[in-house]
Amino acid sequence: TKTQVAIIGAGPAGLTLSLLLNRSGIDCIVLENRSRAYVEARVRAGLLEQNTVDLYNELGVADRLNKEGLLHHGVYLSFNGQRKRIPFNELTGGRTITIYGQQEVVKDLIKANIERGTPIQFEAAATCIEGSDTKHPKVHYQQDGEQHILECDFVAGCDGYHGIGRKSLPTNSYNEFVKEYPFSWLGILAHAAPSTDELIYAYHERGFALHSLRSPKVSRLYLQVDNADKVENWTDDQIWDELQVRLSNGNGFQLNRGEIFEKAITPMRSFMIDNMQFGRLFLAGDAAHIVPPTGGKGLNLAVADVKWMAAALEDWYRTGKEQLLQSYSSNCLRRIWRAQDFSNFMTYLFHKQAAQGSFEYHLQKSRFDYIGQSNAQATTIAENYVGLKEI
Ligand code: FAD
Ligand code: DHB
Repeated sequence: TKTQVAIIGAGPAGLTLSLLLNRSGIDCIVLENRSRAYVEARVRAGLLEQNTVDLYNELGVADRLNKEGLLHHGVYLSFNGQRKRIPFNELTGGRTITIYGQQEVVKDLIKANIERGTPIQFEAAATCIEGSDTKHPKVHYQQDGEQHILECDFVAGCDGYHGIGRKSLPTNSYNEFVKEYPFSWLGILAHAAPSTDELIYAYHERGFALHSLRSPKVSRLYLQVDNADKVENWTDDQIWDELQVRLSNGNGFQLNRGEIFEKAITPMRSFMIDNMQFGRLFLAGDAAHIVPPTGGKGLNLAVADVKWMAAALEDWYRTGKEQLLQSYSSNCLRRIWRAQDFSNFMTYLFHKQAAQGSFEYHLQKSRFDYIGQSNAQATTIAENYVGLKEI
């Protein structure tokens, strides 16, 4: 088989890229090693920046997102039960975030791709990328127990952290940066009406907690746990009790409880490479970078990357100029490093790392207090949280 752009991975990065290329009249095929049902059920992020929502509107794939997504104009930040609200309206000139589950995004994007005639091959695992330093790279993949070859002009590695995209870059073409955090997140979904109108990020001496939501009837909540912890160590009642303690603000805050229907532990890490391309292979999203989830940047970065990639490919097919292709990485990296810093900042601000009363603890507390003392600090958080427009 032959196509112009071979896209590996049907996550947010790959599925958004294929819609962008389709809009520019560029052919592509998406290879995804899991089944459609599997990727549509995979529970992950839920926070969409304004930039992301704007792009999905531009692409005409936001009908359900606009209807079912929850538009938020602020966020609550809490430390030892003391809560402050960051108002986006005043601090960012009216920018917002939207809460809409990643698996809903993925469902909408798959549907739109199929309607627009872009082939997505499910249960097709890319095994090898050949000739990325030539004009005719090939992606080898396995489907139904058979080996196939996809010939193309370009390969887009949108295959996540464990994919083959990054492993196909020559190891001397980039520097790698890794930071593992000494804690993980236990995340739940529950049939419980959200107990808050806007997200709450909370520091508590027993650890971080986050109250997010998915719909008027479904809550999404997270607890900081040790890296060695297991979901089996937690009964549902223990989870609710712990969330209740950590999210309380001393004003009689009462968490609505309900049936927990999803429970998983995710380790936290920052991971970066400083060059996301080699020859005709270009990486986007988790294939090239991982941020700790505090701040909700992962999915949004994946979408921002493929905007640059689609623009560069479109320019190349239209004019033959290489300039945008060559600056692909550096264009993406400005936003990625900003998100790395912001996610790291939010992680350190709200997670329990040092003993209550220690030097580190006092710094952390002072950093939180400063949000209420300085409009500049509140603005810094707000503009990074909703996502910088251009960077
Ligand atoms: P992915 O969504 O990982 O998509 C990559 C796709 O490639 C997958 O469908 C995979 O099956 C496929 N693939 C892999 N290898 C191959 C191959 N060899 N051949 C073909 N296909 C392949 N972000 C937040 O902001 N908030 C959160 O709460 C949050 N929670 C998360 C929880 C977990 C468990 C994980 C893993 C991530 C979480 N993230 C979160 C991050 C966010 O979900 C990701 O940043 C986002 O999914 C990135 O999109 P992507 O398209 O780059 O990668
Ligand atoms: C969600 C996840 C995040 O990491 C975050 O910072 C905000 C919200 C969520 O899953 O809803």
